[in-house]
Amino acid sequence: MAETTLDLRHLPKSEAYAVLRTQTGAVLDGMVDETAAMATIACLVFHAFAPIWAGFYRVVQKDTLLRVGPYQGTLGCLEIAFSRGVCGTAARTGTTVVVPDVHAFEGHIACDSRARSEIVVPVFGKYGELIAVFDMDSDSVGRYDAEDARGLEALLTWFGRSTS
Ligand code: SME
Repeated sequence: MAETTLDLRHLPKSEAYAVLRTQTGAVLDGMVDETAAMATIACLVFHAFAPIWAGFYRVVQKDTLLRVGPYQGTLGCLEIAFSRGVCGTAARTGTTVVVPDVHAFEGHIACDSRARSEIVVPVFGKYGELIAVFDMDSDSVGRYDAEDARGLEALLTWFGRSTS
């Protein structure tokens, strides 16, 4: 495999996400295994943007419970109810949640005490059902914005449509 992980932090975000999307498509070309794809996406995002955590929480009980999936970073909480935290909020509402300052978000779950800002994007399968959320956490305040939302949504929409 010629592809390797890329650090994309030197690029404007829109370009970084375009490169990431192209690279992910190349690496995962023909891959239908959902776990392998999730692990690869977590790896590529983690190395592209150097967050403290990047990865998936999977829906294991519809409308009720998320369980940690493939990720990179420090130890993640194992399970999150739809009623809790930023991940639960994104799962419950089916919309991306950008949190510029986690200390200002009522109910934020601090898996890592260094976390300062966060983005969580819902992931829908090919029938439009919620299958997971993707979470990226930073140790800086205000790290994520609408560009990150757009970039991650595009990547995860592509992933969700290619799931089995
Ligand atoms: N901060 C998240 C929990 C997951 S971890 O940060 C990896 C939340 O509030 O849902």
